[in-house]
Amino acid sequence: AASDPDLIERARAAKEALGDRLFILGHHYQRDEVIQFADVTGDSFKLAQQAAARPDAEFIVFCGVHFMAESADILTGDQQTVILPDLAAGCSMADMATRQQVDECWDTLTDLGLTEDVVPVTYMNSSAAIKAFVGEHGGLVCTSSNAQRALEWAYEQGRKVLFLPDQHLGRNTAVRELGFELSDCVTYNPHKPGGGLTDEELRDARMILWRGHCSVHGRFTLDSVNEVRDRVPGVNVLVHPECKHEVVSAADLVGSTEYIIKALEAAPAGSAWAIGTELNLVRRLAHQHPDKQVMFLDKTICYCSTMNRIDLPHLVWSLEELVAGRVPNPITVDADTARHSKVALDRMLALP
Ligand code: 13P
Ligand code: SF4
Repeated sequence: AASDPDLIERARAAKEALGDRLFILGHHYQRDEVIQFADVTGDSFKLAQQAAARPDAEFIVFCGVHFMAESADILTGDQQTVILPDLAAGCSMADMATRQQVDECWDTLTDLGLTEDVVPVTYMNSSAAIKAFVGEHGGLVCTSSNAQRALEWAYEQGRKVLFLPDQHLGRNTAVRELGFELSDCVTYNPHKPGGGLTDEELRDARMILWRGHCSVHGRFTLDSVNEVRDRVPGVNVLVHPECKHEVVSAADLVGSTEYIIKALEAAPAGSAWAIGTELNLVRRLAHQHPDKQVMFLDKTICYCSTMNRIDLPHLVWSLEELVAGRVPNPITVDADTARHSKVALDRMLALP
């Protein structure tokens, strides 16, 4: 279906019929068949900034995952409707922190008398309910392209951070960018009483990391870095900060998807790159840079299955529904949650 000329023509025709009423955003991990129709492509930070860029557009079709569409709804006006072409496009990492679990964690910290000192920070890859929790408790949202500045801001407000839900981004940023020791960080397991930590560990930690991870980036290993260095002398290893700490430590460069794209643009012809991020993006980069040797860091790791849910048939269906005057799969965050989570998102957008 991907290269079906009929579907491509139907998407093009529906987009043309909707004209300025439609704004399509696409994350870099989307399929080529979908990204070709995006008005703006970006990493999750750029897409959050861009969500409000076209206030005149009635419909924002978000080609990405659920938490991104929620954030777009929070950041745009009531007269704009955000649409997710397939409601099954969630994120396994975001699902690893529920509001109830985070409330329980906060109760544990409150019982220990620690919450005065703790600033919660959540990665963008979390539900609106978690962003609202963070907004209510004086914290902020971050993405992989501003985690350092977000954490610096948080440590100006308090002595400790509760970082949700990606332990790897939190640990990598604390150790690499803020100069923390690994021993300054503890990992809170929401499936164990007290997070599986002693009171003393919670008291002493500067960084309390939620035990969540990305099911794609969490699978890269130190072995895959060593293997590619043996196989391709002079290779540059470039990975996303959602990778494990040992992988990030062994890499040459680390950054968000937007950073990875810019690094490849700046790379000299003939250079070799092993990239540890989602496969749709790596394949696109290999195609866009035929003068460079661009390879996937680990051949056994595949696409993000939920990002891939948005395919051309789903995009065509949602656009044709809009043309027919129906609104498919609107993503609406309730007013209370939206108000609190907007506080946390706005704090991020205001970072210098
Ligand atoms: P960025 O878009 O911030 O690079 O995050 C990657 C990701 O996993 C999005 O789901
Ligand atoms: Fe979630 Fe990872 Fe997929 Fe991003 S790549 S949507 S963090 S599972």
